[in-house]
Amino acid sequence: MTSQASALPATDFLSNPSLDRSAAYGDDLRSILSLAAGRVAHQAISAWDGYAPTPLRDLAALADRLDLGKVLYKDEGLRFGLNSFKALGGAYAVDRLVAARGVQGLTVACATDGNHGRSVAWGARRAGAKAVIYIHEGVTEGRAEAIRSYGATVVREGRTYDDSVRACSEAAARNGWQIVSDTSWPGYEDVPKDVMQGYSVMAIEVQAQQPAAPTHVFVQGGVGGLAAAVLSDTWERLGAQRPIFVVVEPETAACLIESARARAVTAVGGDLDTIMAGLACGGPSILAWRILQPGADAFMTIRDSDAAEAMRQLAALGVVGGESGVAGLAGLAKAAADPALRAALKLDSASVVLCYGTEGATDAEVYRGIVGRTAEEVRR
Ligand SMILES: Cc1ncc(COP(=O)(O)O)c(C=O)c1O
Repeated sequence: MTSQASALPATDFLSNPSLDRSAAYGDDLRSILSLAAGRVAHQAISAWDGYAPTPLRDLAALADRLDLGKVLYKDEGLRFGLNSFKALGGAYAVDRLVAARGVQGLTVACATDGNHGRSVAWGARRAGAKAVIYIHEGVTEGRAEAIRSYGATVVREGRTYDDSVRACSEAAARNGWQIVSDTSWPGYEDVPKDVMQGYSVMAIEVQAQQPAAPTHVFVQGGVGGLAAAVLSDTWERLGAQRPIFVVVEPETAACLIESARARAVTAVGGDLDTIMAGLACGGPSILAWRILQPGADAFMTIRDSDAAEAMRQLAALGVVGGESGVAGLAGLAKAAADPALRAALKLDSASVVLCYGTEGATDAEVYRGIVGRTAEEVRR
């Protein structure tokens, strides 16, 4: 991967100008996400039928090729049979809503590019609530069908994810539905906190699987909820000794790097076109940004071709990773192959790097088109 990656165009890279590594993880941040609330989420989710920790894979051949000490890959491809880490977030938020209000007359709704809607639909079915899920034009029919398979109503409306968010919130206001969003905005914070806290279960599992902390974490960003959830866990536990934390986004939907550059929540325009459907978000979650702005070390972008290459590299190792799920690993491959980024991020042959592989083959046809084999053939 080294020689191919170094031939690719330069990536956008930004050391976080707002980073304050010595800052404590204080009450303000603990009111968003905390180790204590993470333990509650872990206790609840680990009691669900079919729960099992996902594997933490040691990609030794890749570490060798990238001249790194270790590359660890938290493989969410089989999480609850939903193929992505999102099973932890939306479904947990639905659970908490039902616990607080009861299920009588409850309809939950969300906009999604696939994975989050699948989790909300699955959570609603588990809890006995109704679900209406909004998708935009770019969401593949395979992903829509996966959501319908949990009994949810799927509504296709709008050109981008952000359009479908608007359509969903208007319909929810008209019909009295409860929105279960994975992003937050002023005045809408409680549900997205639960969604993010559900994600932190991955970090709790990693700690049990690999008690020594990694030196680096590379994680992909859409609205930033995932990144904030896993960063908050290491920041609260390890303070300034936490791993170097890098957020990776598609170059066409890079709202987090642009927010970091502007030192404020910033939306990006355009059609956000990328194969990394789960990361095609135009603006950050305001709650996630409150954690990422002071706490992430760096932000970088990758191209669709980088994600596709990482999928094929993983497949060669018998591991199935989807387009959005491998973005952190693809960012690592680029950074490790670039001497300037290696130096900036202190990556060397002793580094132990953790990547969150947040989805498997969430669309079977898309996966086969990129990798040339089905997920089953790769795993065999
Ligand atoms: C597979 C996958 N990985 C990562 C993300 C990014 O999560 P967030 O939007 O919380 O940054 C998503 C979002 O949908 C996703 O589907």
